Amino acid sequence: MVSTFPTSHSVDLSQIRLSIRSLQPQLVEWRRHLHQRPELGFKEQLTAQLIAQKLQEWGIEHQTGIAETGIVATIPSNRPGPVLAIRADMDALPVQEENDVPYRSMHDGVMHACGHDGHVAIALGTAYYLSQHRDDFAGTVKFIFQPAEEGPGGAKPMVEAGVLKNPDVDAIIGLHLWNNLPLGTVGVRSGALMAAVECFNCTILGKGGHGAMPHQTVDSVVVSAQIVNALQTIVARNVDPIDSAVVTVGELHAGTAQNVIAGTARMSGTVRYFNPKLEGYFGKRLEQVIAGVCQSQGASYELDYWHLYPPVINDVKIAELVRSVASEVIESPVGIVPECQTMGGEDMAFFLQAVPGCYFFLGSANPTKDLAYPHHHPRFDFDETALGMGVEIFVHCVEKFCR
Ligand code: NI
Repeated sequence: MVSTFPTSHSVDLSQIRLSIRSLQPQLVEWRRHLHQRPELGFKEQLTAQLIAQKLQEWGIEHQTGIAETGIVATIPSNRPGPVLAIRADMDALPVQEENDVPYRSMHDGVMHACGHDGHVAIALGTAYYLSQHRDDFAGTVKFIFQPAEEGPGGAKPMVEAGVLKNPDVDAIIGLHLWNNLPLGTVGVRSGALMAAVECFNCTILGKGGHGAMPHQTVDSVVVSAQIVNALQTIVARNVDPIDSAVVTVGELHAGTAQNVIAGTARMSGTVRYFNPKLEGYFGKRLEQVIAGVCQSQGASYELDYWHLYPPVINDVKIAELVRSVASEVIESPVGIVPECQTMGGEDMAFFLQAVPGCYFFLGSANPTKDLAYPHHHPRFDFDETALGMGVEIFVHCVEKFCR
């Protein structure tokens, strides 16, 4: 990393850095404590317990049990000013950990394989620091500890529970530790960062029969094969090529024997896109294609199609705030990666629909320490040096926004 990038910050960056660096052992301790006790969505009881216990210890006002296990904490400063929210997701995944580390998961079949343990530790560190430095900012900082990001989604019920109100949040920021980027880089951009997520289940209803007598049947396997191919034309031939989109059929099940024509077939899949204007389009078009193929073959169908998450869209001004802060913290303008869009989804999108904000990726991979496995992999782990960087970025965002 280059350390010659000039800082234009009004507060003393080096002093803040030193006090945040002194928090590093605690950040690691909290992260590892959580890593050993991973919990699935809406079951984050132990996680919520640790968060509440720390907030209590530090005298930070908070409310527990929001959307099951969510927590909202508020840190008012000594001056009136804007309200900035910081969001951290809390849940783990149904993955059996394969890392051989002292802080390995103690919960069989459950693992923090996405780094949300780190997100909680970073938010706690930021809350602790700000609670000790209330003179360094104006207004209020709100911490939103959100359950169930991996599904079924805790952000929406938290928004509905009013976590962005009273005091009303002016902007929200959040980060994801990101092993697709090396330690010492930050992925941040304005506009679409992550895709909308929609899902479908479809059953093709044909007519079964003898494998040697297809004329007496309506073969659901042949119908399904045509549907799978035809669905690809939605992205290739219907959507404006400037708008990225994906239609994936992830499951296809049919048949019981080599000489039996299957009467029914079942498929499921996912649809992704960035442009919010496409909401509602894919469900309709998918049904037209399925109905058309079925009609041409004498089959019928049952289709369930649902919208899960909107796209993650960053506000131009808040993204610029994060970008400028991040380039100071990582001391390298070249470490800012705007080409970090992904077709992955995130329910941070619901917060960003309600208020302007910015979600960004904090590079956490370190191949030299064998810490570069992809997210959701049984050997996922990240370089914990990123924890302190996350706190620094959040703290400086607060000090720049809340003035
Ligand atoms: Ni994640």
